Amino acid sequence: MRRAVCPGSFDPIHKGHIEIIARATRLFDEVVVAVSTNYSKQYRFEESERIEMARQTLSSIAGITVRPMGDGLLADFCRDVGADAIIKGLRNSTDFQYEAPMATMNRHLTGVETVFLIADSHYAHISSSLLKEVAALGGDVSDYVPRAVIQRFES
Ligand code: PNS
Repeated sequence: MRRAVCPGSFDPIHKGHIEIIARATRLFDEVVVAVSTNYSKQYRFEESERIEMARQTLSSIAGITVRPMGDGLLADFCRDVGADAIIKGLRNSTDFQYEAPMATMNRHLTGVETVFLIADSHYAHISSSLLKEVAALGGDVSDYVPRAVIQRFES
């Protein structure tokens, strides 16, 4: 049984995340989507909403569980759930520069490896922050977010 953790704020989950998570399910038996909450951070959506949107969106893909990660170390969460790897999507070299030290630190802390998947070019320009800004200003983000997220942006 090979298990991977795909961590993030998912504030909100978008199609770039979904594409990476779906590809990860072809590499691992189980992918645990770990929804983090850093209590010093401001989120657009509550933790429960971020989890609910992820669950609604990912329920049709086998091999995925969505769990809260809390605000502890990702390496500890990986050890607790028995993960063999962390999955991260890379959109560009800026992502790589940001992620590489964390990957090395996570391997140092508990031996967990990070597997990087290159983002599909259709989604390499999007982030949750950009989508939140466009949606807040009345722009159409429906090509980039699942239905569960559109409903919450509109409510
Ligand atoms: O979607 P985000 O906000 O970019 O996700 C960032 C996340 C949750 C993956 C990252 O902040 C994280 O790993 N947080 C857990 C705290 C931790 O382990 N910090 C040390 C990293 S080496």
